[in-house]
Amino acid sequence: MIGFGGDYTPEQWDPETWAEDDALMRRAHVTNVTVGVFSWATLEPEPGRYDFGWLDATLDRLHRNGVGVTLATPTASPPPWFTLAHPDAMPVTADGVRLTHGSRDTYCAAAPAYRAAALRVTSELAARYGSHPVVTRWHIHNEFGSLCWCSHSAEAFRRWLRCRYDLASLNEAWCTAFWSQRYSSWEQILPPRATQYLHNPGQLLDFKRFWSDELLAAYTEQRDSIRGYSGAPITTNFMLPSWQNLDLWRWSREVDVVSVDHYLSSVDGLEGHADIAFAADRARSFNGGRPWVLMEQAASTARVDGVLAHRAPGRIVLDSLAYVARGADDVLFFQWRASRGGAEMYHSALVPHAGADSRIYAEAVELGETLERIGSVAGAMVSADVAILYDADSWWALETRSLPSDHLVYLDQVRAAHRALWQAGVTTDFAPVDGDLSRYRLVVAPLVYVMSEGAAETLRSYVRGGGHLLVTFFSGIVDSSHRVYLGGYPGALRDILGVRVEEFHPLPPGGTVSLDDGSAGTSWSERLRVEGASVIASYAGGWPAITRHSYGAGTAWYVSTQLWSASFLADVLRSAGVEPVVAALPAGVDAVRRGAHLFVFNHLDEPVKIPAAGTDLLTGRVASGAFAVPPGGAAIIREAKRPPALPPTAACSRSGQSPTGDR
Ligand code: GAL
Repeated sequence: MIGFGGDYTPEQWDPETWAEDDALMRRAHVTNVTVGVFSWATLEPEPGRYDFGWLDATLDRLHRNGVGVTLATPTASPPPWFTLAHPDAMPVTADGVRLTHGSRDTYCAAAPAYRAAALRVTSELAARYGSHPVVTRWHIHNEFGSLCWCSHSAEAFRRWLRCRYDLASLNEAWCTAFWSQRYSSWEQILPPRATQYLHNPGQLLDFKRFWSDELLAAYTEQRDSIRGYSGAPITTNFMLPSWQNLDLWRWSREVDVVSVDHYLSSVDGLEGHADIAFAADRARSFNGGRPWVLMEQAASTARVDGVLAHRAPGRIVLDSLAYVARGADDVLFFQWRASRGGAEMYHSALVPHAGADSRIYAEAVELGETLERIGSVAGAMVSADVAILYDADSWWALETRSLPSDHLVYLDQVRAAHRALWQAGVTTDFAPVDGDLSRYRLVVAPLVYVMSEGAAETLRSYVRGGGHLLVTFFSGIVDSSHRVYLGGYPGALRDILGVRVEEFHPLPPGGTVSLDDGSAGTSWSERLRVEGASVIASYAGGWPAITRHSYGAGTAWYVSTQLWSASFLADVLRSAGVEPVVAALPAGVDAVRRGAHLFVFNHLDEPVKIPAAGTDLLTGRVASGAFAVPPGGAAIIREAKRPPALPPTAACSRSGQSPTGDR
């Protein structure tokens, strides 16, 4: 079964509306709703006095209606009484402003009073509902990620540092000889609060790591409390935005199933699917390749340039199927019913302000029916031969000011790598820099700026053992303390890549640099010498730009500017023995294989023919040679015969078959 539903807030509504909700959920084939996010003030109206009546009634009602519940802990929004009782637990910004209640997420997660109150309400909830048959999953907090620079944060930061350093090694790691920053006692160490000029890069990076771990501790203590009362899976919703305060690889190890929230930033169909693929491939990878939960998506709208924009009719279904294609076993929304007031009253919902007599609710019903029809997909795995390295340390370190370019955005570079592979029709996983890469034919390392010696060794043994590695500029430059590897860049990877870089020549915004193969790079260029690598393309001035190096039994490519040339990528894929999901698909058609099911999305204005044999779960059509997928439509073909599995080792022996190239 594929789960379908969304955030449900009965505390905002009256009994008449609850009765309507029951009927509308049945009609839309809703299977699961998330209850209780942000309901702390309703659950605990005064310190230590709980009102569970409304929640008892809600859970019993949903149970009678056949709808499962993802029960959330309400700790992302402490009630106003909490602020007044514990002003010290209110967060302080880097420039010293103490915030107060009036929105949500207003607490310092390192403040003992907040942690105690959060744990108390969670334990009460778990004790009461831990064995309620309607609770199929627990959802802790909401989108962990709020940071703080207060004195509780300072104390916790020092505790975290003391587990990793003594004062001498901390001074060494942070290079405190620069600008007279040497620390002679722990009390002198503060969060990186507002200061006169640039911060210490090592301190900034450790502060981000500390907060990821501190928030994780806040999560795990709630999780462990719930575990004492309930055997249902426990998760928290990871936000996949353009900023990131959590090391999601580390966090993923602590949840029973990965769930993510994903909000489109564009309502364009093709752009939307590129973005969905980027989010969904990460979610699946965080969950070790297993099916994952789409905990939130918007029912219809995105906010584009400050205005609400609706997805075109039909896209709620189509976009939801795109998440399923890449491993989602639950398609949930923010939210079931649009709020009448409050900060997000104009956020879209499956039941909009207009009510059930609306296009959006009709599409919700269609989606519920569709997901029921394709239930056999649930549990199936998506497999990929290519992995992109994804690294929180590099993301955080690249946020430091005064790097060689102010215009390098980590996520944009990772997105560009994923997009190039997506356009080549190749399914891609993500992997941590120190993970097991041996199952991949090709590993792509975009802007992996921070590289520990351990991570470099992982890459070394991967390539030595026959792997194919594609590295892009400004990778392997600093160690895990944000200190440069000396002797020529990229110090951590010079031997693998067979190159040595003396100077960076980043480009200004809009600047380009010409290559002798007729292509042009943006963002970056370098003075690069080969030391064993062969040159694939050079800058117009003669310096090598793109190189290839045989290392052990494998091959390592280096691209020293921003350039995702389809023909170069096709060469790399061919050499690594990577094939697209469906050969020679036209641009604008997206195909993914999930278990025995081939998902095809046609973004073109004309039908497209897909060579496949089997049954289309969406239409019931059976074909033995080819399926015509309508314009703007999809097919989910349960294949009669799975294509043969690829041999386990990377090889060039398949080079007779060419990838799709630029679609
Ligand atoms: C999410 C959040 C929801 C809601 C939604 C609106 O990030 O978890 O509570 O605020 O955004 O888009």
